[in-house]
Amino acid sequence: MTQAEYGKEDQTFQAAGGIDGIQQLVEDFYAVMSNKESAAVIRHMHPDDLTASIDKLARFLCGWMGGPKRYSEKYGGIAIPPAHSHLPVGESEKQAWLDCMREALDKQDYPDELKEYLIEQLTAVSYTHLTLPTIYSV
Ligand code: HEM
Repeated sequence: MTQAEYGKEDQTFQAAGGIDGIQQLVEDFYAVMSNKESAAVIRHMHPDDLTASIDKLARFLCGWMGGPKRYSEKYGGIAIPPAHSHLPVGESEKQAWLDCMREALDKQDYPDELKEYLIEQLTAVSYTHLTLPTIYSV
């Protein structure tokens, strides 16, 4: 098979292992978050029981990667920035989230290009989640 064209149709979803592959990625993501000192702040924004959080993010990412829209099938429509607007997310929380995702991606048997593509896309999306003012050093 020629190299997948990520972002086209459902190719990212397929390359990530479909529903089962994305479920595994998200379970690993939350396991990393639960065990990482630098992620404690964002872990505490979540409920103790992560079952629903895992289900929501896994379902959301299926559709986000071009696969079936499993989030809206179960939970209805969602716009991601407003879904985070009640949370105090600044630069360090965003970075902690991305670091957990990077570690979780490294646990998957994905091609390196897919890992890079996903981190790039998630980094771009995560900027829209910032709810705290960013202080730039000059
Ligand atoms: C920027 C750093 C981020 C932080 C600190 C963060 C944190 C959180 C927290 C605390 C929740 C609530 C979980 C719960 O109550 O069960 C949540 C929900 C969610 N997040 Fe994030 N998140 C971030 C980035 C992202 C990104 C980049 C995506 C998608 C690409 C995403 C997708 C979701 C989804 C789908 C939900 C479930 C929303 C709902 O149904 O209420 N998050 N996030």
